[in-house]
Amino acid sequence: MDTNVQKRRENKKSLRVKVISLGNAEVGKSCIIKRYCEKRFVPKYLATIGIDYGVTKVQVRDREIKVNIFDMAGHPFFYEVRNEFYKDSQGVILVYDVGLRESFDALDSWLTEMKQEMGSQANMENIIFVVCANKVDLTKRRVVDESEGRLWAESRGFHYFETSAQSGEGINEMFQAFFSSITDMCENGGKRPTPEVSVGFTKEQADTIRRIRSSKDSWDMLGVKPGATREEVNKAYRKLAVLLHPDKCVAPGSEDAFKAVVNARTSLLKNIK
Ligand code: GTP
Ligand code: MG
Repeated sequence: MDTNVQKRRENKKSLRVKVISLGNAEVGKSCIIKRYCEKRFVPKYLATIGIDYGVTKVQVRDREIKVNIFDMAGHPFFYEVRNEFYKDSQGVILVYDVGLRESFDALDSWLTEMKQEMGSQANMENIIFVVCANKVDLTKRRVVDESEGRLWAESRGFHYFETSAQSGEGINEMFQAFFSSITDMCENGGKRPTPEVSVGFTKEQADTIRRIRSSKDSWDMLGVKPGATREEVNKAYRKLAVLLHPDKCVAPGSEDAFKAVVNARTSLLKNIK
Protein backbone atom coordinates (compact mmCIF):
# COMPACT_ATOMS: atom_id res chain seq x y z
CA MET A 1 0.00 0.00 0.00
CA ASP A 2 1.09 3.57 -0.69
CA THR A 3 2.84 4.64 2.55
CA ASN A 4 1.07 8.03 2.56
CA VAL A 5 -2.33 6.37 2.34
CA GLN A 6 -1.31 4.01 5.11
CA LYS A 7 -0.11 6.90 7.27
CA ARG A 8 -3.34 8.83 6.69
CA ARG A 9 -5.34 5.77 7.73
CA GLU A 10 -3.24 5.32 10.86
CA ASN A 11 -3.65 9.01 11.72
CA LYS A 12 -7.38 8.73 11.46
CA LYS A 13 -7.33 5.77 13.73
CA SER A 14 -5.01 7.07 16.44
CA LEU A 15 -5.91 9.86 18.78
CA ARG A 16 -4.17 11.77 21.59
CA VAL A 17 -6.21 13.08 24.45
CA LYS A 18 -5.60 14.84 27.74
CA VAL A 19 -7.56 14.04 30.88
CA ILE A 20 -7.27 15.40 34.41
CA SER A 21 -8.46 14.20 37.82
CA LEU A 22 -10.07 16.59 40.30
CA GLY A 23 -11.43 16.38 43.80
CA ASN A 24 -10.48 16.95 47.43
CA ALA A 25 -7.31 15.47 48.90
CA GLU A 26 -7.54 11.81 49.90
CA VAL A 27 -10.75 10.98 48.01
CA GLY A 28 -8.90 8.37 45.94
CA LYS A 29 -8.02 10.03 42.60
CA SER A 30 -4.57 8.48 42.32
CA CYS A 31 -5.83 5.07 43.49
CA ILE A 32 -8.57 5.04 40.82
CA ILE A 33 -5.99 5.73 38.12
CA LYS A 34 -3.58 3.18 39.60
CA ARG A 35 -6.34 0.55 39.77
CA TYR A 36 -7.07 1.03 36.08
CA CYS A 37 -3.51 1.35 34.77
CA GLU A 38 -1.67 -1.02 37.10
CA LYS A 39 -4.53 -3.23 38.36
CA ARG A 40 -3.50 -2.77 41.98
CA PHE A 41 -4.48 -0.91 45.13
CA VAL A 42 -2.23 0.72 47.69
CA PRO A 43 -3.94 1.16 51.09
CA LYS A 44 -1.31 3.59 52.39
CA TYR A 45 -2.02 7.25 51.64
CA LEU A 46 0.68 8.86 49.53
CA ALA A 47 -0.44 12.41 48.80
CA THR A 48 0.17 13.55 45.24
CA ILE A 49 2.71 16.35 45.28
CA GLY A 50 1.46 18.97 42.85
CA ILE A 51 0.77 16.72 39.90
CA ASP A 52 1.47 13.20 38.63
CA TYR A 53 1.68 12.50 34.95
CA GLY A 54 1.21 9.23 33.10
CA VAL A 55 0.40 7.92 29.65
CA THR A 56 -1.70 4.94 28.73
CA LYS A 57 -2.97 3.47 25.47
CA VAL A 58 -6.53 2.30 25.11
CA GLN A 59 -8.56 0.86 22.28
CA VAL A 60 -11.96 2.35 21.51
CA ARG A 61 -13.70 0.66 18.57
CA ASP A 62 -11.18 0.84 15.68
CA ARG A 63 -9.11 3.61 17.21
CA GLU A 64 -6.07 3.57 19.39
CA ILE A 65 -6.21 6.36 21.96
CA LYS A 66 -3.11 7.68 23.64
CA VAL A 67 -4.31 9.12 26.92
CA ASN A 68 -2.22 11.65 28.83
CA ILE A 69 -3.40 11.57 32.42
CA PHE A 70 -2.66 14.51 34.71
CA ASP A 71 -3.47 13.43 38.23
CA MET A 72 -3.94 16.56 40.32
CA ALA A 73 -3.20 17.03 44.00
CA GLY A 74 -6.38 17.85 45.88
CA HIS A 75 -4.72 19.71 48.73
CA PRO A 76 -5.27 23.50 48.59
CA PHE A 77 -1.54 23.92 49.21
CA PHE A 78 -0.83 22.78 45.62
CA TYR A 79 -3.14 25.22 43.89
CA GLU A 80 -0.23 27.13 42.35
CA VAL A 81 1.14 23.96 40.78
CA ARG A 82 -2.04 22.43 39.42
CA ASN A 83 -3.62 25.62 38.04
CA GLU A 84 -1.33 25.40 35.00
CA PHE A 85 -2.76 22.06 33.95
CA TYR A 86 -6.44 22.69 33.40
CA LYS A 87 -6.10 23.97 29.85
CA ASP A 88 -6.73 21.76 26.79
CA SER A 89 -8.33 18.91 28.70
CA GLN A 90 -10.84 16.78 26.82
CA GLY A 91 -11.95 14.89 29.89
CA VAL A 92 -12.23 15.37 33.63
CA ILE A 93 -12.58 12.71 36.33
CA LEU A 94 -14.30 14.34 39.30
CA VAL A 95 -13.94 12.28 42.45
CA TYR A 96 -15.54 12.42 45.88
CA ASP A 97 -15.55 10.07 48.86
CA VAL A 98 -19.07 8.75 49.62
CA GLY A 99 -18.14 8.79 53.33
CA LEU A 100 -17.24 12.49 53.41
CA ARG A 101 -20.00 14.95 52.64
CA GLU A 102 -17.61 17.88 52.36
CA SER A 103 -15.82 16.14 49.47
CA PHE A 104 -19.17 15.91 47.63
CA ASP A 105 -20.08 19.52 48.46
CA ALA A 106 -16.67 20.56 47.14
CA LEU A 107 -17.41 19.38 43.57
CA ASP A 108 -18.94 22.75 42.71
CA SER A 109 -15.84 24.61 43.83
CA TRP A 110 -13.64 22.30 41.76
CA LEU A 111 -15.68 23.22 38.69
CA THR A 112 -15.35 26.89 39.64
CA GLU A 113 -11.58 26.62 39.98
CA MET A 114 -11.38 24.89 36.62
CA LYS A 115 -13.50 27.53 34.86
CA GLN A 116 -11.47 30.30 36.41
CA GLU A 117 -8.14 28.81 35.36
CA MET A 118 -9.28 28.12 31.81
CA GLY A 119 -10.19 31.79 31.50
CA SER A 120 -11.59 33.06 28.25
CA GLN A 121 -10.99 29.77 26.43
CA ALA A 122 -13.26 28.02 28.93
CA ASN A 123 -15.77 25.97 27.07
CA MET A 124 -16.96 23.49 29.60
CA GLU A 125 -19.60 22.29 27.12
CA ASN A 126 -16.98 20.49 25.09
CA ILE A 127 -15.35 18.55 27.86
CA ILE A 128 -16.48 15.12 29.02
CA PHE A 129 -16.99 14.88 32.77
CA VAL A 130 -17.30 11.69 34.74
CA VAL A 131 -18.17 11.73 38.43
CA CYS A 132 -16.80 8.94 40.63
CA ALA A 133 -18.61 8.31 43.89
CA ASN A 134 -15.58 6.54 45.35
CA LYS A 135 -14.91 4.22 48.31
CA VAL A 136 -18.28 2.47 47.96
CA ASP A 137 -16.66 -0.59 49.57
CA LEU A 138 -16.81 1.23 52.93
CA THR A 139 -20.58 0.82 53.17
CA LYS A 140 -20.89 1.53 56.91
CA ARG A 141 -19.46 5.02 56.73
CA ARG A 142 -21.38 6.06 53.59
CA VAL A 143 -23.19 9.41 53.94
CA VAL A 144 -23.87 10.49 50.35
CA ASP A 145 -26.27 8.06 48.69
CA GLU A 146 -26.41 7.10 45.03
CA SER A 147 -29.44 9.17 44.05
CA GLU A 148 -27.96 12.36 45.46
CA GLY A 149 -24.67 11.89 43.62
CA ARG A 150 -26.34 10.76 40.42
CA LEU A 151 -28.69 13.73 40.46
CA TRP A 152 -25.79 16.17 40.86
CA ALA A 153 -23.94 14.55 37.94
CA GLU A 154 -26.75 13.83 35.52
CA SER A 155 -28.44 17.20 35.92
CA ARG A 156 -25.18 18.68 34.56
CA GLY A 157 -24.89 16.19 31.70
CA PHE A 158 -22.02 14.33 33.42
CA HIS A 159 -21.57 10.56 33.65
CA TYR A 160 -21.93 9.03 37.12
CA PHE A 161 -20.26 5.88 38.44
CA GLU A 162 -20.08 4.22 41.82
CA THR A 163 -16.46 3.15 42.25
CA SER A 164 -14.06 1.48 44.60
CA ALA A 165 -10.37 1.66 43.86
CA GLN A 166 -9.97 -0.90 46.62
CA SER A 167 -12.19 -3.65 45.14
CA GLY A 168 -12.10 -2.44 41.54
CA GLU A 169 -15.89 -2.03 41.38
CA GLY A 170 -16.99 0.29 38.61
CA ILE A 171 -13.47 1.29 37.59
CA ASN A 172 -13.24 -0.37 34.15
CA GLU A 173 -16.85 0.53 33.30
CA MET A 174 -16.17 4.13 34.25
CA PHE A 175 -13.02 4.43 32.13
CA GLN A 176 -14.64 2.65 29.18
CA ALA A 177 -17.61 5.03 29.17
CA PHE A 178 -15.28 7.99 29.68
CA PHE A 179 -12.91 7.14 26.80
CA SER A 180 -15.76 6.17 24.53
CA SER A 181 -17.47 9.55 25.09
CA ILE A 182 -14.20 11.40 24.53
CA THR A 183 -13.72 9.51 21.25
CA ASP A 184 -17.29 10.34 20.18
CA MET A 185 -16.58 13.98 20.92
CA CYS A 186 -13.32 13.99 18.93
CA GLU A 187 -15.09 12.33 16.00
CA ASN A 188 -17.72 15.03 16.25
CA GLY A 189 -15.15 17.78 15.62
CA GLY A 190 -14.36 18.39 19.30
CA LYS A 191 -17.95 19.13 20.23
CA ARG A 192 -19.82 17.11 22.80
CA PRO A 193 -22.47 15.30 20.71
CA THR A 194 -26.06 15.99 21.71
CA PRO A 195 -27.11 12.84 23.52
CA GLU A 196 -29.59 10.62 21.68
CA VAL A 197 -31.60 10.36 24.83
CA SER A 198 -31.82 13.56 26.84
CA VAL A 199 -31.45 13.34 30.62
CA GLY A 200 -35.21 12.97 30.85
CA PHE A 201 -35.80 15.40 33.67
CA THR A 202 -35.89 19.15 34.09
CA LYS A 203 -33.78 21.50 36.16
CA GLU A 204 -36.91 22.36 38.13
CA GLN A 205 -37.37 18.69 39.05
CA ALA A 206 -33.72 18.32 40.06
CA ASP A 207 -33.76 21.52 42.14
CA THR A 208 -37.02 20.51 43.83
CA ILE A 209 -35.63 17.10 44.83
CA ARG A 210 -32.57 18.80 46.30
CA ARG A 211 -34.73 21.30 48.16
CA ILE A 212 -36.92 18.51 49.59
CA ARG A 213 -33.87 16.58 50.76
CA SER A 214 -32.53 19.55 52.66
CA SER A 215 -35.86 20.78 54.10
CA LYS A 216 -35.96 21.14 57.88
CA ASP A 217 -39.60 20.14 58.53
CA SER A 218 -42.86 19.23 56.78
CA TRP A 219 -43.92 22.88 56.28
CA ASP A 220 -40.59 23.65 54.71
CA MET A 221 -40.80 20.54 52.55
CA LEU A 222 -44.13 21.57 51.07
CA GLY A 223 -42.95 25.16 50.75
CA VAL A 224 -45.73 26.62 52.91
CA LYS A 225 -45.55 28.86 55.98
CA PRO A 226 -46.01 27.19 59.40
CA GLY A 227 -49.68 27.51 60.25
CA ALA A 228 -50.86 27.33 56.62
CA THR A 229 -54.45 26.22 55.93
CA ARG A 230 -55.57 22.79 54.62
CA GLU A 231 -56.19 24.38 51.22
CA GLU A 232 -52.69 25.86 51.09
CA VAL A 233 -51.14 22.55 52.11
CA ASN A 234 -53.17 20.64 49.51
CA LYS A 235 -52.40 23.13 46.78
CA ALA A 236 -48.65 22.95 47.48
CA TYR A 237 -48.87 19.17 47.66
CA ARG A 238 -50.65 18.88 44.30
CA LYS A 239 -48.05 21.04 42.59
CA LEU A 240 -45.19 18.91 43.93
CA ALA A 241 -47.03 15.64 43.21
CA VAL A 242 -47.45 16.62 39.55
CA LEU A 243 -43.80 17.59 39.30
CA LEU A 244 -42.37 14.53 41.06
CA HIS A 245 -44.80 11.70 40.44
CA PRO A 246 -42.65 8.63 39.70
CA ASP A 247 -44.70 7.96 36.53
CA LYS A 248 -43.66 11.35 35.18
CA CYS A 249 -40.30 12.07 36.75
CA VAL A 250 -37.23 9.93 36.16
CA ALA A 251 -34.78 12.14 38.05
CA PRO A 252 -32.66 10.16 40.53
CA GLY A 253 -34.27 10.33 43.96
CA SER A 254 -37.72 11.35 42.69
CA GLU A 255 -39.44 8.35 44.22
CA ASP A 256 -38.09 9.04 47.71
CA ALA A 257 -38.86 12.75 47.34
CA PHE A 258 -42.42 11.95 46.27
CA LYS A 259 -42.90 9.63 49.27
CA ALA A 260 -41.50 12.28 51.61
CA VAL A 261 -43.96 14.85 50.22
CA VAL A 262 -46.90 12.44 50.67
CA ASN A 263 -45.83 11.82 54.30
CA ALA A 264 -45.33 15.53 54.98
CA ARG A 265 -48.83 16.32 53.72
CA THR A 266 -50.38 13.50 55.78
CA SER A 267 -48.67 14.61 58.98
CA LEU A 268 -49.56 18.28 58.46
CA LEU A 269 -53.23 17.57 57.66
CA LYS A 270 -53.52 15.48 60.85
CA ASN A 271 -52.85 18.59 62.90
CA ILE A 272 -54.84 21.15 60.92
CA LYS A 273 -58.54 21.48 61.72
P1 GTP B 1 -4.37 13.65 46.84
O1 GTP B 1 -3.31 13.15 45.95
O2 GTP B 1 -3.84 14.13 48.17
O3 GTP B 1 -5.24 14.68 46.20
O4 GTP B 1 -5.33 12.39 47.23
P2 GTP B 1 -6.02 11.34 46.22
O5 GTP B 1 -7.40 11.81 45.92
O6 GTP B 1 -5.14 11.05 45.08
O7 GTP B 1 -6.17 10.07 47.18
P3 GTP B 1 -5.39 8.67 47.05
O8 GTP B 1 -5.73 7.99 45.79
O9 GTP B 1 -3.98 8.87 47.37
O10 GTP B 1 -6.14 7.85 48.23
C1 GTP B 1 -6.28 8.37 49.55
C2 GTP B 1 -6.49 7.25 50.54
O11 GTP B 1 -7.74 6.62 50.33
C3 GTP B 1 -5.45 6.14 50.48
O12 GTP B 1 -5.17 5.71 51.80
C4 GTP B 1 -6.15 5.05 49.68
O13 GTP B 1 -5.67 3.78 50.00
C5 GTP B 1 -7.59 5.23 50.11
N1 GTP B 1 -8.55 4.83 49.06
C6 GTP B 1 -8.61 5.28 47.79
N2 GTP B 1 -9.63 4.74 47.12
C7 GTP B 1 -10.25 3.91 47.99
C8 GTP B 1 -11.39 3.05 47.89
O14 GTP B 1 -12.07 2.93 46.88
N3 GTP B 1 -11.72 2.36 49.03
C9 GTP B 1 -11.02 2.46 50.19
N4 GTP B 1 -11.43 1.73 51.21
N5 GTP B 1 -9.95 3.26 50.31
C10 GTP B 1 -9.56 3.98 49.22
MG1 MG C 1 -3.35 11.75 44.51
